Formats: sequence, C-alpha cells, structure tokens
Amino acid sequence: MYEKIPQPPTRPLVGNAADIDPSARMENWLRLSKIYGPIFHLSLPQRNLIILSSQELVNEACDEKRFNKRVGGALNEVRSFTGDGLFTAQNSEKNYGKGHRILASAFSPVAMHGMFEGMMDIAEQLVLRWKRFGEDSIINVSENYTRVTLDTIGLCAFNYRFNSFYQNELHPFVNSMVRALHEAGSRARRTSIQNKLMIASQRQFNADIQNMQETAGKIIEERRRKGQGEKKDVLDIMLTAKDPVTGEGLSDENIRYQMVTFLIAGHETTSGLLSFATYELLKNPSTLQKAREEVDKVLGTDRITIDHIPKLVYLNQILKETLRLYPSAPAFTVASEEDTVLGGKYQIKKSDDVVVFIAGLHRDPTVWGPNVEEFDPDRFSPEKMGTLPPNSWKPFGNGMRACIGRFFAIQEVTLVLALILQQFDLIEENPSYQLKIREALTIKPENFFIRVKTRGTAP
Ligand code: HEM
Repeated sequence: MYEKIPQPPTRPLVGNAADIDPSARMENWLRLSKIYGPIFHLSLPQRNLIILSSQELVNEACDEKRFNKRVGGALNEVRSFTGDGLFTAQNSEKNYGKGHRILASAFSPVAMHGMFEGMMDIAEQLVLRWKRFGEDSIINVSENYTRVTLDTIGLCAFNYRFNSFYQNELHPFVNSMVRALHEAGSRARRTSIQNKLMIASQRQFNADIQNMQETAGKIIEERRRKGQGEKKDVLDIMLTAKDPVTGEGLSDENIRYQMVTFLIAGHETTSGLLSFATYELLKNPSTLQKAREEVDKVLGTDRITIDHIPKLVYLNQILKETLRLYPSAPAFTVASEEDTVLGGKYQIKKSDDVVVFIAGLHRDPTVWGPNVEEFDPDRFSPEKMGTLPPNSWKPFGNGMRACIGRFFAIQEVTLVLALILQQFDLIEENPSYQLKIREALTIKPENFFIRVKTRGTAP
C-alpha cells in the first residue's frame, strides 16, 4: 500500500550529494521535480532529504501538529555565527521561546510605523546617488540594493549607520557574511574529516565569524556607552526587555547572535526581492507602465509617507508575484516527531529532513495553471487572493517559525520601488540579458545592470 519515493541515481559513498550543490540548488531541484514529480528523495551520507513541491503535500507538511522546523545541514553550520538566534535555534531551545516572545512585537506591523523614517533616510541616499551619477552610469542592481538593505536594517534595528553609500567597497561585514554562508554550505556537504583537513578554509571561516561577532559587539558597546536614543529600537528592546514567561532578559551572547541574524536575514533576502522585481519590471513593459501609473496616481510629486504604502496595491501584487517565482530563501526544512505517512502513501521517518521546496511549490500547475513561468501580478489581485488554496504561497516560511521580518521587508521594498518609479525611467543596460541566478543561502540575479534617467518628478 505504500509507494516508494522516487530518487535520482546515486553514487557510491556520497549518494545524491551532487544534487544539493548550493550554488545551483534551485535550478537543480526544479529540474529534478519535473523528472521525479512533487516528492523525491535525496540521500546523503548523514541525512535523507524528502523534497516536496506540490500544494497538496506541502499543505500536510505545514501542519505544525505533525511537522516542525529542523535546523540541520547548512543551517546547522550557519549556527557557528548565528547560534541560538531566532533563525537557527531549534524550537526546543530555551532561547528560542525567549527571543521569539521578546522580539515579535519589535517587528509587528505597528512597529513598522516607527521604522518608516529610517527606511526613507536610506532609500533617499540611493535615489540621490543614482541622480548624481547620472544617465550614463551603469548600475549594478544587486550591489546597489545590498547597500540599501544592509544600511536599512542597521539603522532601523540598531540605529547604526553602515554608510554603505559613502564607501566604494561593500562593508567588510558583507564580505565576511557572503564567504561564511558559502563555507557553511560547503561544510555541510563535506565529511567531518574533510572539514578538519581544510585548515585554510577553517581559518578563514573563523576569521569571518569573529569579524561578524565583533561588528555586533561594537554596536552593543557603543549603545551601552551612549545610552538609548530618542526612540527605543530593536537593540534597546533586546538589552532591556524581560520575557513575560520566564521573567529573564537576553544574554549578551544571544543578543550578538540575534544581531548577526537580523543583519544577514534582513538584507540578503530583501535585496534579492528588490533585484528580481526590477528585473521583471524591465522584462514586462506593460506591468512597468501599470506600476508607474499607480505610483503617479497615489504619490504624484508628493514625498512618500507611510499612509501611501497600503494604497500601492498593484505594486504589492508585483512583489508577491516576484516572491512566487523567486522566493529569496527557496526552501525550508521541517521534520516529524514520529515516523509518519505523507499523501496517504509515502512513508516518512522521523530522522528524514522534509524540505518544503518553495520555488517548486510556487510552480505547482494545479494552483497556478499551465503557465507557471509567466510573470503575472494579476494572480494576486484582491479577488484572486482569497481563492488560493491553503499553503500554496510560502515565501516567508510557516507558522510559528515564519519570517519575523516580513512586514519590514515588504514595507522597505514597496518604499524603495515606489521612489524609484516616481523619480526615474529604468533602462536595461543589456536588453538581451539572460537571467542567471546566483545562489548561496538566498538567490540573486547575477550580472544584471541598468541605467536610470531622472524624470524630474521629485517631491
Ligand atoms: C525566517 C524569508 C526578510 C528575519 C524566514 C523564513 C523564510 C524567510 C522562508 C523561514 C525559514 C525557515 O523556516 O527555516 C524571508 C524573505 C524575506 C525575509 C523572502 C524578504 C523578502 C527578513 C527580514 C528579517 C528577517 C527583513 C529581519 C528584519 C528572519 C528571522 C527568521 C526568518 C529572524 C526566523 C524566525 C523564527 O524562526 O522565529 N524568513 N525573510 N527576514 N526571517 Fe526572513
């Protein structure tokens, strides 16, 4: 009565290790899900992955009474620098509950009001830079957006200025982070003996971790020295709040882990969303035109305020559709407490890592129709949104472990795109550009360049 879960061919000793190459995972798994269907099995020397990409199966895996987040593989290696911060803590760890309760309100929709001016401060730096460089200047899209998103999370959460727009090179934190994330992925695929033998990589990994921890440590020290500013930010909350359940505050070590977590999770993903949205706007002139019309109608030549954000309905649909095709974090992993059965016929062991492959789920033709690759923001029109089956759109993960920064990300991206559309005409530098996705833990378009022309519609 049970069915075997399909599995691509394996190699001796390493099993399916070649199929989890982190630099091309999304592409590989989309290909494999076309061949093997909505559930397939990858075996690694120390883990079994069960990859899901249909709404029907994902809907079951999102039932938190049966499945919960598992921190394994690359995420377990990321723990070397994010420890028991929210992203990489196991549900059962005491610091997870404490951190979640203390930080949830700091990133609530209400808290976003207090962060608007900080977001605006950085977005205006981007606009000014683009204006000053002028029409002939070639803009590296992902690089510019990385500056925006790193500076925005730094300023809004910790009142710390990375000042990325005033440096030629990206902040050393970013270089350490990119290298460490890459190494974490590689470490998860090597055996522990291989890891021990790679002395130079280990040394660089340690140096990068130290650099990230020191950046966080310096920000804490400076805050203690200067005291709280005019308004309480996320760092003040972490330094002073007591968890209502245990009555305890967060330790300095845990605060450093949370800070590194926010700096990483808060900028990599969001700059990916901004980059892919810009790419799709340029590839779809009628969508760009409609978005521009909405921005002109809602903002005119006014300075954007927080009250404009919910009125930018079509822009929001564009972001949802971008996250459907390019979920910045393309997968998350859960596991069952007990051996169980999925879809009435697939046996799952409690030791299995059940991977919700978001990029595959977002291409399930039973939900999205035959043209899943087509960029169509109307899929998320207010009328259609209510008709989507449960758990068919999961770019921000699931349940209690869903993204704490989702309101932050959407507000920031809406604000930045609205400003850009209000003030610039976008020109693709290379109209025959073929999208190439660069993947680490998150995804970005590689070598995507634009130019911009000022519209003369500044507030
Ligand atoms: C969790 C995606 C922006 C902080 C997650 C998860 C996903 C995700 C899929 C669940 C991961 C899992 O289950 O293993 C995204 C996307 C973003 C984004 C697509 C932007 C487009 C942000 C921002 C922040 C942030 C701006 C911080 C301000 C976090 C944290 C968690 C998380 C701390 C762990 C939450 C927990 O387990 O309690 N995100 N994220 N993310 N995200 Fe985001």
